[in-house]
Amino acid sequence: MKFFKVVICSSVLCYQVPSLGTNLNQLGVKYNTDKSSIHHNYLDIYERYLNHLKDQPITFLEIGFLQGSSARMWDEYFSNGKLHFMDYDPGIYNYAHGLSDRSTLHIVDQGKRTDLENFIKKTDTQFDVILDDGGHRMEQQILSFEMLFPRIKPGGMYIVEDLHTSYWSDWSGYEFAKNTCNNKIAINYLLNLVHDVNHVGAQNKCADINKFPTELRKALNIYQSDIESIHFYTSICIIVKRK
Ligand SMILES: C[S@@+](CC[C@H](N)C(=O)[O-])C[C@H]1O[C@@H](n2cnc3c(N)ncnc32)[C@H](O)[C@@H]1O
Repeated sequence: MKFFKVVICSSVLCYQVPSLGTNLNQLGVKYNTDKSSIHHNYLDIYERYLNHLKDQPITFLEIGFLQGSSARMWDEYFSNGKLHFMDYDPGIYNYAHGLSDRSTLHIVDQGKRTDLENFIKKTDTQFDVILDDGGHRMEQQILSFEMLFPRIKPGGMYIVEDLHTSYWSDWSGYEFAKNTCNNKIAINYLLNLVHDVNHVGAQNKCADINKFPTELRKALNIYQSDIESIHFYTSICIIVKRK
């Protein structure tokens, strides 16, 4: 039987509807990751952003391996991708079964700057997609984003998962309600990045960064110059880099 991809376009958005073959959520259920409809139900959202990369030779990184459930799902989904998985627990090597030789495991503490620096040096690569499903501590989410967002390719995306931890009182998340400028709270940090997306438009009648005068462009920080859009969903934030 043949399956077809359907592309739906409006003037601003273009999404590919998954083919009738195995979709990402079905793979997630097969491999029993909590990203699937078994629990968090993130995968239909990811499919909208990732389906066009499915058969491409992309470079992908997921922080947080646990027992490799999502890794086996990504390995099958991105069948031509080069996949990296990061975790601070060396015990993950016991769960490497079922992964292809396109997948590499790295022992890295995402909360330690030197670990991330060493990882960046060692891999010496740019990523199409980075997904943070690691410790979910706010300081880890922010440090990893700041260190790894520069490693995203133009047009690529950085995804932070399980952002509900920003609201947990016992993770000091209630601070968010008291002071929205407190950028140590991951959800506030990301919400405040929204202003960077609009910075160019706010400075100039023409919001197209390519037409932004060179001198002013030099004054932009990496988020103002490089983030094209930020998308919030329940517990997820997707930051898309400009092409
Ligand atoms: C939610 S689990 C990952 C689940 C996996 N992605 C899946 O869907 O099957 C979180 C993982 O993050 C790892 N982790 C926790 N803190 C970390 C840190 N500071 N650096 C790297 N990994 C960390 C834990 O060891 C655990 O394996």
